[in-house]
Amino acid sequence: MAKALPNLISSSPWWQFVTWIADPLKFQRVYRRKYGDVFTMTLGGFGQYVVVGNPQMIQEIFNQDSQFDVGRGNFLAEPLIGENSLMLMDGDRHRRERKLLMPPFHGERLQTYAHQICQVSKAVADSWTVNQPFVARTAMQTVSLEVILQVVFGISEGDRYQQLKPLLTEWLNMTDSPLRSSILFFPFLQKDWGDWSPWGQMERRKKQVYQLLKDEIDERRSQDNKPATDVLSLMMAARDEAGQAMADKELQDELLTILFAGHETTATTLAWAFYQVHRCPQVREKLLQELDSLGDGASPMELAKLPYLNAVCQETLRMYPVLPIIFPRITKAPMQIAGYSLEPDTVLMPSIFLVHYREELYPEPEMFRPERFLERQFSPSEYLPFGGGSRRCLGYALALLEMKLVLATVLSRCELALAEDKPVKSQRRGFTLAPATGVRMLLTGRRNPAKISVTAQ
Ligand code: HEM
Repeated sequence: MAKALPNLISSSPWWQFVTWIADPLKFQRVYRRKYGDVFTMTLGGFGQYVVVGNPQMIQEIFNQDSQFDVGRGNFLAEPLIGENSLMLMDGDRHRRERKLLMPPFHGERLQTYAHQICQVSKAVADSWTVNQPFVARTAMQTVSLEVILQVVFGISEGDRYQQLKPLLTEWLNMTDSPLRSSILFFPFLQKDWGDWSPWGQMERRKKQVYQLLKDEIDERRSQDNKPATDVLSLMMAARDEAGQAMADKELQDELLTILFAGHETTATTLAWAFYQVHRCPQVREKLLQELDSLGDGASPMELAKLPYLNAVCQETLRMYPVLPIIFPRITKAPMQIAGYSLEPDTVLMPSIFLVHYREELYPEPEMFRPERFLERQFSPSEYLPFGGGSRRCLGYALALLEMKLVLATVLSRCELALAEDKPVKSQRRGFTLAPATGVRMLLTGRRNPAKISVTAQ
């Protein structure tokens, strides 16, 4: 007989499902108060999930990585990212794919993208008009989409670029509210009833995107002397241990995986960073002082090393996890974790949110205080905005670099202010959480355009 799971929530499974989809942060707050930092929820017909907000238990989960499946727990994302996505893989297939995809996102490779990121940020910041409000999240979405198109897809101009950009924006915006997001969680809504139905539109856009990506891959193959600097070219050139290249369908699915995993997440976190920097005058002051301490014409990599800028990004990622939980870890065999005896197929959900708001780790957790990251170090299970173990976010180094460079470029060129006094709340946006109003801001003046060198050296 299956053993009882820890602290099983007793309310109706469908009520739990609806309240989880509507507001996963409130859900976790309510049940942590009632049960402590480990509890089991039942989400409608999807089954039971053990939410884990305890760093020691999360460390045990990370330490026993190979004892869990992860990919099969991400099945809801398949319609967006395709069946050959890294996110849906497990075991040897996942290890092979990560090895193929990893190199473009780490080490010296990253530095080659830095100037492109600064140029994209500069173009967006220069397009704002003094005293005209803009929505920070939308602006950051423009930046992060452009970065993905240029750095990952290697597309920055021409017909294909002109078609792909609006198509991807429309596609991504289809789940921009809790109600519109429900299409991802209720398979019965995933029916193509023609052009007017949301799923029909989703499917048509997806088909067009896949065709454009296929055309791009075919074109690259036909001109193989082009120097390979973007991620797609590197992915096409990569070979596994058996000398095998990635198939076209695999390349297409991985491009969409990177788009869906990397675009919303980075844009949203940046919008929160702008929000907090402009809500806390002392943080803004300190950050500007640090930026100004660099002489004019600073290189992007000099910026990336600034400690307070780094701390501001870390604190934003702590306070506003775009994914409130990491990917589900599913036990493959009976196992013991933190004194609990778990049956096979038990689903554990380490909660970034619960850990990042623990008082003993982060005193006054509701306060935005970047200094905490200068005062002490946190272990991988105490601070996990990018998850952990073998599934740790593939793009974490790029995301962090992008956050620092965008913040530094924009803040050194622009005087900004929040357009509204009201506190901004988080709300669901597809699988992620984002600022409900998007953070409305105002350009109040220009600063030093010569601070950062945006031309490649
Ligand atoms: C602020 C930005 C970002 C945040 C907060 C974030 C967060 C995460 C988290 C929490 C996971 C799950 C890890 C786990 O379960 O242990 C993840 C996975 C992943 N992320 Fe990110 N991410 C960000 C940006 C990016 C970017 C820029 C890319 C790509 C360029 C990316 C690509 C991926 C991929 C491919 C996975 C799946 C990894 C696997 O299954 O092996 N992410 N991310």
